[in-house]
Amino acid sequence: MKGYMCKICKYISIDGTAPANCPVCGAPKTAFEEKENAINTAKDAANLTELEKKHIPAVKVIKTCGLIPDGCTDVHAKIGEIQHPMQPEHYIVHIDFYIDKKFISRIVLTPEKLNPAGALHLKAKVGRLSVIELCNIHGAWIKELDL
Ligand SMILES: [Fe+2]
Repeated sequence: MKGYMCKICKYISIDGTAPANCPVCGAPKTAFEEKENAINTAKDAANLTELEKKHIPAVKVIKTCGLIPDGCTDVHAKIGEIQHPMQPEHYIVHIDFYIDKKFISRIVLTPEKLNPAGALHLKAKVGRLSVIELCNIHGAWIKELDL
């Protein structure tokens, strides 16, 4: 899948344009590179390979949050359907979240004490959610779904 990747922090813009500034690290538009294969996707969604099962985010949306009771939607993302390793030589670097193709948050991961997973508490109740994870060896992978 095509995207504009920030050379500094590996953020990928998925709305078809390079932003004036990177929403993650602030780098200018000139730091962005148009890439035809910026993000890996499943070749055949009905028959995922082991590599795809280990990298495509498995995302769960929970409409009732226990932490913020006054209207909060939880998003739980784990990598992936088969758990990805978290070893110093092979791990998930970060998980980026978007609603309607606009960046909303990055969860940065380190391999020693964390599982390959992250969660957000959304004010937003509707929209198209995109979750992109970056593996230090196998690159970026995406999962998209409606809230
Ligand atoms: Fe990997």
